[in-house]
Amino acid sequence: MHCDLVNIFHAVDSLVAVLLFCLRSHLCCKGRVENILLGKCLGRTVPGHVSLVKATYEQHFNFYIYNVTNPSHINWFGEKPCVIEVGPFAIKESEQKKEYKFEDDGNSIWYKNYKMFVYDKKRSCEDCSYEAPIFVPNLPAIGAMADMGDPQYNVSKTAKWIISLGLILLGEYPFKVVTFGDLVFDGYDDPLLTLGHSSFLNYLSNTYNGGKNIIPFPIPNLKKMGFFVGYNNSNDEDYLIHSGKENIENIANIQKWAGMAKLPWWEDPRAAAINGSDSGSFSAPNLSKTDRLYMFQSYMCRSFYMEYSKDRTVHDIPGYNYEIPYSLYDTTLEENIGFRYPNREKVNYFPDWPVCPNSTSTGVNCDLVNINCAISQNLCHKCCTGSKVNDTYLLPPGYFPMACFPGKNEKAPFGMIFSAPHYLFSPPNAVNSVYGMDPNHEAHVPLSYTHEQHSGMITEVKFRLQINVPVYQNRHVIQTAQFPNKLIPVLWADSHAYLTKPAYDMIHGYFVTIPKAIYITKFMSLFVGVALILLIVAVKVRTRKQRIARERRNNALLKDETKGDKKGVQIV
Ligand SMILES: *[C@@H]1O[C@H](CO)[C@@H](O)[C@H](O)[C@H]1NC(C)=O
Ligand SMILES: *[C@@H]1O[C@H](CO)[C@@H](O)[C@H](O)[C@H]1NC(C)=O
Ligand SMILES: *[C@@H]1O[C@H](CO)[C@@H](O)[C@H](O)[C@H]1NC(C)=O
Ligand SMILES: *[C@@H]1O[C@H](CO)[C@@H](O)[C@H](O)[C@H]1NC(C)=O
Ligand SMILES: *[C@@H]1O[C@H](CO)[C@@H](O)[C@H](O)[C@H]1NC(C)=O
Ligand SMILES: *[C@@H]1O[C@H](CO)[C@@H](O)[C@H](O)[C@H]1NC(C)=O
Ligand SMILES: *[C@@H]1O[C@H](CO)[C@@H](O)[C@H](O)[C@H]1NC(C)=O
Repeated sequence: MHCDLVNIFHAVDSLVAVLLFCLRSHLCCKGRVENILLGKCLGRTVPGHVSLVKATYEQHFNFYIYNVTNPSHINWFGEKPCVIEVGPFAIKESEQKKEYKFEDDGNSIWYKNYKMFVYDKKRSCEDCSYEAPIFVPNLPAIGAMADMGDPQYNVSKTAKWIISLGLILLGEYPFKVVTFGDLVFDGYDDPLLTLGHSSFLNYLSNTYNGGKNIIPFPIPNLKKMGFFVGYNNSNDEDYLIHSGKENIENIANIQKWAGMAKLPWWEDPRAAAINGSDSGSFSAPNLSKTDRLYMFQSYMCRSFYMEYSKDRTVHDIPGYNYEIPYSLYDTTLEENIGFRYPNREKVNYFPDWPVCPNSTSTGVNCDLVNINCAISQNLCHKCCTGSKVNDTYLLPPGYFPMACFPGKNEKAPFGMIFSAPHYLFSPPNAVNSVYGMDPNHEAHVPLSYTHEQHSGMITEVKFRLQINVPVYQNRHVIQTAQFPNKLIPVLWADSHAYLTKPAYDMIHGYFVTIPKAIYITKFMSLFVGVALILLIVAVKVRTRKQRIARERRNNALLKDETKGDKKGVQIV
């Protein structure tokens, strides 16, 4: 009897275990990864990764433009730039069309993601219209002036004077009023770009310069100037990813982007690696707090990783929040040497950095000291020269060059520099190098993803970038003869993606409600089990009582009988 009870308990437990296993495997969809990616897994039952790919998530971009309030003072008196953040200019992003196909026997998936951006007046700030005028650094002009100072183009002094006069005649100034719409999506007509692609320039070059371009540096191959011109209804190149069919750990890891297994614009192999998944939108199930989540961000032309930062509950779904560590933006570290700004112009943009403690050591013979002056911890060494390394100057932590046109396999047309919004990852001296930076971790951390840790599913994404332009004094170019040496912030974008309510409800159902239900079921089964024991015990006790009673009766009967016998005997 006892053995039977134990068996019943085992049976109930394994039933629960089987139920759990079924749920888990359905959700993780092992062996059915193709389906998961296409949103077909088990009909509608998989809320996971798919949902992020399909239209079950919403993504909003908020753009903030830095309105330069003292352009002429910067221009003519070298004043410290003063910027005021204007925004948000809200954009709703949606996936418009997706091309995909399976390759390599279902082990790889090739796809292209088309994106549509629509201006959302309602979510924008009161004064923010698509036509709002803003003072911004004029990149084609600044780019041309920078090229004139770049030793690789070897522009003679005379040529510099002639070209800068020409730029003035064309109406090119370092700052310009443009509308938000033109700056970001539509592009504005720029005289230099127009001239650069005109037959007139060709004629001049052929007639007066023996066919060699009269402008001795390349004019960017752009018809109009704007940061995301032509991005509407287009894609960020094509991806080839692992389907995870062979190994779930590999799910969605990128094999090739734009047909390339590594990025051509970074020389260092660590920097050139395309790691993890497309913007971190997928991760393997069963995340732990020690995992590093790798991702490739086509908009920032490089790979990143995130580390566990805290537990975070999104729409009642508990999960792990992962963030990018500050060190990833620190190109003074040895591990990030590959992401250094080349600084061919040899300009010290941050003369107040690094702040070195007053040296106390004396009598060090630097000829005898073998020290690597190019890395962070040695910059302040007595035998090193601060940020001056290899005959040029390092940028402080928090900056890396914009190596490509965001999301495109094309080199950036001008020298631009990425940072965290409001220079969040930079030292105070750098933050104070322009007026108007006000960093805040929650609002400005560049990558912050929350995952439901069992399935790996994302419940919330925050992705941010800031674009800055370096300007510097060049005595031989009229427009920049009085310029300060600065990075001037131009804009930052804040992308926030989250699931739609039905998707949250579904995840909530699977990972919060069902485990609770299972717990209750377990409790119930325990209860039933205990009840069963009690019942059985009760039955046993009763049967024992009955047996005893019966035995007693029998005995009594027996006695009676014997009595009777006796009687009978007596009778007989
Ligand atoms: C930007 O600043 C200029 C003056 O400095 C002002 O006229 C313009 O309205 C500002 N733009 C926005 C959108 O606030
Ligand atoms: C993007 O294209 C759609 C139509 O395809 C259009 O409605 C929308 O206004 C465009 N967005 C921008 C920012 O130009
Ligand atoms: C730059 O041009 C001058 C003549 O204009 C020439 O003498 C000089 O060698 C050139 N320098 C380089 C680095 O090409
Ligand atoms: C999840 O990961 C932990 C350690 O990271 C491991 O012990 C456990 O077996 C994993 N569970 C599953 C279902 O893979
Ligand atoms: C890419 O991954 C490799 C190996 O895990 C690592 O060494 C490298 O630093 C990573 N690169 C980036 C940019 O995260
Ligand atoms: C270094 O010494 C100078 C004067 O010699 C002093 O003004 C300065 O505050 C000191 N700096 C530090 C970081 O101790
Ligand atoms: C310094 O420059 C030399 C040659 O220009 C180069 O080989 C070396 O890698 C550079 N060092 C650093 C730390 O960039």
